[in-house]
Amino acid sequence: MKTLTVGLPDGAYEIRIGNGLLMELGAALLPFRGEEVPVVVVTDENVWAHYHAPFAAALAAAGIAFVPAVFPAGETNKCLGGLGRLYDVFAEAGLPRGGLVVAFGGGVIGDLAGFAAATWMRGVRFVQVPTTLLAQVDSSVGGKTAVNHTRGKNLIGAFYQPKLVVIDPETLRTLPAREVRGGMAEVIKYGAIRSRSLFDKLDRDADPAALPEIIEACCRVKAGIVSRDERDLGERMLLNFGHTFGHAIERRHGYGHYTHGEAVAFGMVIAARLGECLALTQPGAADALRRLLARHRLEPDYPEAPGALMSAMESDKKSGGGGVRVVFLRRIGEAFTREMRFADLEAALAPPGEASAQR
Ligand code: NAD
Ligand code: GLY
Repeated sequence: MKTLTVGLPDGAYEIRIGNGLLMELGAALLPFRGEEVPVVVVTDENVWAHYHAPFAAALAAAGIAFVPAVFPAGETNKCLGGLGRLYDVFAEAGLPRGGLVVAFGGGVIGDLAGFAAATWMRGVRFVQVPTTLLAQVDSSVGGKTAVNHTRGKNLIGAFYQPKLVVIDPETLRTLPAREVRGGMAEVIKYGAIRSRSLFDKLDRDADPAALPEIIEACCRVKAGIVSRDERDLGERMLLNFGHTFGHAIERRHGYGHYTHGEAVAFGMVIAARLGECLALTQPGAADALRRLLARHRLEPDYPEAPGALMSAMESDKKSGGGGVRVVFLRRIGEAFTREMRFADLEAALAPPGEASAQR
């Protein structure tokens, strides 16, 4: 088992990574259980179908009773309606201020359970047990919790840190291949923004046996960034590399058409190409990124002209006034942000002939 620490002023917490950790989950939860009341486990139907038995055995071994809140799989439950149903389970279970919520699933479950924990009785403890690659390398760490509003994703949320993150990479064995590929886009993102050695390792070694080490490398980068910028005011924005364009792609095509990871893969290549065009990014970085994404069976090239994304980008909640903050690569392994006016972005994204006609 590897243990990393997320160091924060209001309390550090551990990220534990290791094959088989699900079997030892009961013992890991004991220090956080507080009052002798059942723990509420928030999960979805797919995860529960695969892991109900080992989960129940692990908690029974530590003498911990639990109440499951099992949601249908998918983003549609990450909303105020889903949150209301979860509060009903908390009320029914008599979850007290000193109780514990366990998020057992992907990013949807982690975000929903985390926000419910942040707000129930003004905050109860919660532990993240992520089961998708995306959640293991990204969403379970750092305390961003949220539900969606009809006007947009993650509009209702809070920064609320878990007490512990327990990552068992063996749970990825049952994850559908498309979800694994989507998570790999986020893994590649960490290499691109912060770690040339991770980027090169991913190029050499696409073996699933290497996953625990890769997850650890990503969590190490994220833990460091979150420790320095919990509230997303500076360095943490680098984690949005590819996401400005990726979110616009998801919105333009309707959520679910492309997975988040597939859209981020397109977005990273668009951002790297844009950086090269603006002489901000070392030439060749976009091609290196394209090759690595393709090696991990992700389609690197968005099939439409990127200029088509402008209207979707202008409605992004993070767009302030007449512009947007874009994450650029300086080179593979190093990133920075720059505020761009929409007019300049539109001109830069236009095909070469059109760009010169506009000037
Ligand atoms: P998800 O939670 O919907 O899981 C994807 C699918 O995999 C679901 O069908 C789920 O049932 C299934 N699944 C999960 N684990 C499984 C397993 N081990 N075996 C078999 N099936 C399994 O999707 P996701 O990609 O994990 O998360 C996406 C969500 O995360 C979005 O809502 C996004 O906004 C959020 N997110 C949050 C953060 C953050 O920092 N909080 C960061 C990135 C993304
Ligand atoms: N997933 C981006 C962040 O945690 O900031």
